[in-house]
Amino acid sequence: MADLKTNYLGLTLKNPLVPSASPLSQDIDTAKQLEDAGASAIVMHSLFEERIEEESRRHDRFFHQQDIGHAEADSFHPTPMEYESYQDRYLEKLQQLKSHLDIPIIASLNGTSSDGWIEYGKAMQQAGADALELNVYFIAADIEMSSQEVEDRYLTLLSELRSHVSLPITMKLSSQFSSPLNFIRRLEQAGANGVSLFNRFYQPDIDLETLHVVPKIHLSTSDETLLRIRWIALLYGHVNLSLAVTGGFHTAEDVVKALLVGADVTHLCSVLLENGPQQLTHIHNKLTDWLDEHEYESVEQLKGSISQQNAINPIAYERTNYIEVLDSYTSTSGVLR
Ligand SMILES: Cc1cc2nc3c(=O)[nH]c(=O)nc-3n(C[C@H](O)[C@H](O)[C@H](O)COP(=O)(O)O)c2cc1C
Repeated sequence: MADLKTNYLGLTLKNPLVPSASPLSQDIDTAKQLEDAGASAIVMHSLFEERIEEESRRHDRFFHQQDIGHAEADSFHPTPMEYESYQDRYLEKLQQLKSHLDIPIIASLNGTSSDGWIEYGKAMQQAGADALELNVYFIAADIEMSSQEVEDRYLTLLSELRSHVSLPITMKLSSQFSSPLNFIRRLEQAGANGVSLFNRFYQPDIDLETLHVVPKIHLSTSDETLLRIRWIALLYGHVNLSLAVTGGFHTAEDVVKALLVGADVTHLCSVLLENGPQQLTHIHNKLTDWLDEHEYESVEQLKGSISQQNAINPIAYERTNYIEVLDSYTSTSGVLR
């Protein structure tokens, strides 16, 4: 049977199937089910700095009101010493995951300020995380902000955190950069150990009855993998980073494609939310079958063999393919046939 081992962020993982950040890691039993189903590591749901700040504002208001309230009611209120913050709860969950599971636990941080990134990153390291994933959900909505400034923001946050944390750090990125490969190389130079391509952002929608703008979450489909596959294929061999894909990976075939272009791990989220942790076993078994049927001895043997550098037709990952693809539509499909 093929050897599924892979190296990711300096960790030796028993296979490339890693549940990505999601509510599934909030519950220890569910996380345990993921481990039992074959997950080789788990990325925790993110700690959001904005939520810490919001909680701290509420907390300040509450204790301020208590100060000016009725003395006899004071004993009913929690004292600041008894109060368990959102951050404490996150770190406690991380410690519980570490003590109940044998697989590596990757903590995830969504910070907004460099002080926040450093403080929470250090706390995650102290709490026992095996690695850190930085989920930078930044929308460049300011028309005055140039692409250089956007990139510098990431690079500054990363290099400041790097100087305070010795854990492996991976950056979960959006696909919306002018020159993703160049930017990723600069992330490597600033101290990143890996990248995860690409986060899916939840798009605002318009409710036509109320005319309100409403956030919309929908789960992915396998169609979304192709964007990730192209960019990992282009990146592979140009950087010395661990590579993860996230976004649309639902089947063993999706996972095989990610490995062929050079990914070290495939993150799974929507497929597990839809079908439950046991689906991971199904993907695992199908992946093993595929490797055996195609006479691969290991995942390592597969990795990067159809990246742009190694593909028979490397140009297919670039624009040249564009005209051919458009032409193929008129010649093969739809009403134009
Ligand atoms: C309900 C839900 C919660 C999520 N929470 C987080 C999170 O806390 N941090 C994060 O970095 N990504 C989060 N994600 C994004 C996923 O980790 C994943 O990157 C994304 O959904 C794409 O993968 P998929 O197509 O397999 O779902 C979440 C996704 C969903 C659907």
